[in-house]
Amino acid sequence: MERNGEIKLDPWGYSQIADYDKLFSLFGIRPFRELFPKIKNPHNLMKRGVIFGHRDFDQILDALERKEKVALLTGFMPSGKLHFGHKMLMDQIIYYQNMGIDIILAIADIEAYAVRRMERKELIRIALEEYIANALALGLQKKNLRIYFQSNMDAPYYRLASMFSQKVTAAEFSAIYGEITPAKVTAVLHQAADILHPMLEEYGGYKYVFVPVGADQDPHLRFTRDIADRFSGELGLRRPASTYHRFMTGLDGGKMSSSRPDSAIFLSDPLEVSASKLMKALTGGRATVEEQRRLGGEPEKCSVYEMYLYHLLPRDEDLLDIYWKCRRGELLCGEDKKMAVEKMLKWLEEHQKKLEQAKNEAEKLVEIPSF
Ligand code: TRP
Repeated sequence: MERNGEIKLDPWGYSQIADYDKLFSLFGIRPFRELFPKIKNPHNLMKRGVIFGHRDFDQILDALERKEKVALLTGFMPSGKLHFGHKMLMDQIIYYQNMGIDIILAIADIEAYAVRRMERKELIRIALEEYIANALALGLQKKNLRIYFQSNMDAPYYRLASMFSQKVTAAEFSAIYGEITPAKVTAVLHQAADILHPMLEEYGGYKYVFVPVGADQDPHLRFTRDIADRFSGELGLRRPASTYHRFMTGLDGGKMSSSRPDSAIFLSDPLEVSASKLMKALTGGRATVEEQRRLGGEPEKCSVYEMYLYHLLPRDEDLLDIYWKCRRGELLCGEDKKMAVEKMLKWLEEHQKKLEQAKNEAEKLVEIPSF
C-alpha cells in the first residue's frame, strides 16, 4: 500500500484518490489529454476524462503509426461478479481490438488464490461465466485474442517470474507496497511476467506492450518498468506503456465492489434488481425540491450521472443536455432516475440474451487448469 498525502494506492484494498491530478505530480503519470492530437477516433471514455492518464502511451501510438507490432495486455482477478465498473475496461479492450490491435488477457487466478484466498473451482467458474462470457457478449471477437489462466502458462513465462525475483530487493518491495506477504510477492512477480512475456521470442517475438488499468494498479506498473530495465540486456525486455482510468463510484457513494452487492449493478442482475439498485442510488440532488429548483443539482457527485457518462449516453449532445438540465434545476432526481433505469434496462435485456449464448463459448476459448 502506498501513501502520499491524500493519495493511497492499494492494488489489493481500498485506493483513495481525492484528486486524480495529484497522480501526475506525485507519480509521474502523464495527462492523457496531451495525446489527443495523435488520436484519430478517441473513445468516449478518453474524451470524457475517464481515461485520464498514461505512461509512454505516445510510444504506442507512434509504433502503431509505423505499423510495428503492438499488443494490449491486461488482467482480471476473477473474484466476483462482473459489474458496470468492469464493463468500462472491457469496452476499452474491444475498442482497441477493433483498431486491429492484438489482445492478450490474463486471468489472474494465482493472484485470486494467493491474495483473496478464493477456492480454485469457484474462481475458475467466475472467470468463465462472468469475465470471459461477459467480454464476448459485450463484443470481444475471437480473432487476435489470447486468454490464459496464469496458473496454466508454460515454462518461459514461469522462468521469467522466477528470474525477476533475482533482481529485486525486499526494501524495494516494501517501498512500493508497504508491508507485503509472500502471497503478494508471488502475485507481483506473476503480474510482471504477464505484462512482459509477450516481448519474448517464445511468444511471437518483440512487440510493444501497453496495459490499460485502473489507477490502483500503477504500483505494479512502476515495479514492472523497473524490472524491464534490469532485464533489457539479458532478455531484451522494454518498459511497458500503460493507460489509467478513474473508478466508478459505488451506488452508495463508497467503493464500487463485487463484494458489496448494493454498491454495484452486475451485468447479470435480474432486471428488477438492477432497476431497484439504480432507483436507490445516491445522487447529487439537494435536500428539498425547492432547493434543487433554486440551486440546481450536482451531477459531479451523482452516481446516476456517472452511469450516463460511462455507459448509457454515447452521444455527447445527450450527455451535455442532461448535465445542464440538472445543473439548472430543471431536471429532478426522481424523473432523471426513471430515464436512466429505462435506458439501462433496454441495454441489459439485450446484453443478457447475448450472455447466455456466450457462456457456452467461454470455455472453448481458454485452457482450463486441471486443479
Ligand atoms: N492485479 C490485477 C487486478 O487486481 C489483475 C492482473 C493480473 C493484471 N495480471 C495483470 C492487470 C496484468 C494488468 C496486467 O485486477
